[in-house]
Amino acid sequence: MSQNQHLFKNDVFTDFIPYKKEYFSLSYTLGFVTDKVPSNLIAEVETKCNKLLEDTSLHQPYNERLVGHINEEYQLPLSENFQKYLFELFKFYCEEAGEKEYSRIIGMCSSPPQFNFALDNWVNFQSKYEYNPPHYHTGLFSWVLWHKIPFTNENEKRYGPGYKKHTDHKNYNGNFIFQFADGFNICDHDFPVDNKWEGTIVLFPSALTHQVFPFYTSDDYRITVAGNIKFK
Ligand SMILES: [Fe+2]
Repeated sequence: MSQNQHLFKNDVFTDFIPYKKEYFSLSYTLGFVTDKVPSNLIAEVETKCNKLLEDTSLHQPYNERLVGHINEEYQLPLSENFQKYLFELFKFYCEEAGEKEYSRIIGMCSSPPQFNFALDNWVNFQSKYEYNPPHYHTGLFSWVLWHKIPFTNENEKRYGPGYKKHTDHKNYNGNFIFQFADGFNICDHDFPVDNKWEGTIVLFPSALTHQVFPFYTSDDYRITVAGNIKFK
């Protein structure tokens, strides 16, 4: 197990923006991986999103499969290259999470482990005021790519609700958070995702609860691509 960064309850990536493949632990057996997605895969997502928006009626709605209070959600099949990249992130998680966690994951797998990266992927075109309540996913691992974020964290905090609060209070407008138990409390880990985070991906165990807060300062879509990695 390599030295990895340990986060503590109610932690926040205040002045940190992930720029390389990295593992963060939330507890001894729980963590997540962040990375900047390679530009060729971002180009693939960009092309597919643009095509989808040309005529959304040609694409399979995903609303019934997701808990998000988001009107525009569609299935988004991804290339083999994208799936290979997800597999690399998955392997990286296993290597970094430590021997115990690696054994637990591999213990659940058939031998050799076979995964399905292809089918359960989708795109969210989230509008102002829409949100994703606390939830977790089915599958082994899940991931989210922040593709287009049309606001800045500063504006959300300055102009959105809560702006009158003292600066010591955390303001969640536009944020993504993980929620997990440390044995005493329900803790959260906060990602103040804004335009600087475009192209960042996070991969995490599907059972890890997370949510997305609404944003208030843009009329454009906040576009995220997400998926679940399952056994074949
Ligand atoms: Fe989710």
